[in-house]
Amino acid sequence: MNLTVTPGAALRGATRLPGDKSISHRAALLAALAEGESQIDNFLISGVTRAILGALSSLGVGWELDGTRLTVQSQGWRGWRPPAAPIDCGNSATTLRLLAGALAAAGMPAILDGAPGLRARPMMRIIEPLQQMGVAITGDKGRAPLRLSRFTHPLRPLDYTLPVASAQVKSCLLLAALAAHGRTTLREPAPSRDHSERLLRSLGIDITTEQHTQNHLASPQYLTHLNPPCPLSLPPLRLKVPGDFSAAAFIIVAALITPGSQVTLSNVGLNPTRTGLLDALSAMGARIHLSATGEQNGEPIGDLSVEASSLRGVCIEGSLVVRMIDEFPAFAVAAAYAQGETVVRQAEELRYKESDRIAALCAELRALGVDVEEAQDGFSIRGGVIPRGGLVRSHGDHRLAMALAIAGLASQQPITVKDAEVIDESFPAFGETLRNLGGWLSLEE
Ligand code: S3P
Repeated sequence: MNLTVTPGAALRGATRLPGDKSISHRAALLAALAEGESQIDNFLISGVTRAILGALSSLGVGWELDGTRLTVQSQGWRGWRPPAAPIDCGNSATTLRLLAGALAAAGMPAILDGAPGLRARPMMRIIEPLQQMGVAITGDKGRAPLRLSRFTHPLRPLDYTLPVASAQVKSCLLLAALAAHGRTTLREPAPSRDHSERLLRSLGIDITTEQHTQNHLASPQYLTHLNPPCPLSLPPLRLKVPGDFSAAAFIIVAALITPGSQVTLSNVGLNPTRTGLLDALSAMGARIHLSATGEQNGEPIGDLSVEASSLRGVCIEGSLVVRMIDEFPAFAVAAAYAQGETVVRQAEELRYKESDRIAALCAELRALGVDVEEAQDGFSIRGGVIPRGGLVRSHGDHRLAMALAIAGLASQQPITVKDAEVIDESFPAFGETLRNLGGWLSLEE
C-alpha cells in the first residue's frame, strides 16, 4: 500500500488515541498470569498486540475482544499448557522478550520465533541474564528463534547491571524474577519506561525503585523483593489503558510543522519515562500546553493542546534519549522543519529497532531533500529548508512510515510512503485520525 500525503491543509480539532502499546502488552501478559477474569479497557488492537494475543492462545489462555475491551480468563501459571508449535511473535520484540521472562518463570518449554525483522533483533541481552538465573534458554547466534527447555525451579535471583537501558530487558527479567528464590536487583544506565514496575506494584508485588546519580545520569536501582519467592498467581486486573504517547507524538509533530494548525489530544499517557519528546520540543520553541488530568491505574494521564510553531534546532543526548527512544522518527521530522542544526548523540540503540532507524531515517530524509548527516550513534540535521516531497520507503518500520507521512503535510510537493501498511503494527487509525483533523491523505494498492 502507498500512502500519499498532500501539503496545504491545516490540522484542527480534537482527537483521542489508541491504547498505549507497551501497557497493552503488559496488561495482556499479566492477565494471563492472574487467576480469574481480567478486564482491560482501551486495549490497543493492532499487529503487535495480535502477536501477544496469539501467543496467549497457544499457551491455552482464553481471551475475548469486545470493541477495545479485552477480557482474559486464566488459571494463572498453573493453567498454561506447553505450546504445540513454535510461538509466532510476529514483528513484536516486546511480545518475544516479555514472554521469554514469563515462560522462564512458568518453567514452560517453548520456542519463540517471529517474522524476519524480529529474527534480526539482538537477543543476547535477555539470553545471558536469563541463563545466569538458571533458565535453559538458547538462541540462534544470539537471535530468534529462542528455545526454552525444561529446567529446575526455583530460579537463582539476579544482581545485574543492564549494559543498555531497555524496558523490554528489564521487564523480561522482572517477570522471570517472580520465580526466583530471593531478591533480584537490576540496575540500568538510565531510567527506561517503568510500566511493568507500576503494574506489578498495583498487583501487590513488592518492587522498590531507588534513584541514584552517577556521572550526571540518573541511574535507578530496582530492588525487587518477591514474596513468596515462587511464582504465585497474580490477582485479576481491572485496567483502562491510557492513550499512547508514542502515537500522540506523530500528531503533535504534525500540528507543530503544519501552518495554521491547532489540535487537542485527550487522555494521553504522560508517564515521565515516556515524555522526553515534550522536553525536546519545548526546548525547540514548540507551543504545547499540557493539562494533567490525573492518574489511571498508577499511570499519569492528561490532555495536550498543540499549535503550529516556529522551531529551532536542539541537541539531544544522555538520559533524554531513553525517555524518547521511540520518538526519534517523529522528532527528526520536527528537526527538518526547524531553523538551525539539531544534533542527536548517544542514541546507537536506534540501530536495533524495527529498522536501523539511524540509517533509514537519514536515507529517507535525504531523499526528501533534507540536509542530514549520519553518525554511528545518532545524526545531525540542518533544518529550515522545506522538504521537497517525493517517494520514500517505510523499511518495514511503522514509526518510520508515520514520520515520513506527516512530513508531507507541509512539504513542497506530496510525499508518498511505500509499504505503508506496516503502520497497522501500532496505530491502525493513523490515517483516519489525520484525515478527521483535516489532513489530505490517500491510500492506494
Ligand atoms: C518497549 C521498550 C522499548 C521500545 C519499544 C517498547 C517496551 O524497547 O523501543 O517500542 O514496551 O518495553 P527497548 O526496551 O528495547 O528499548
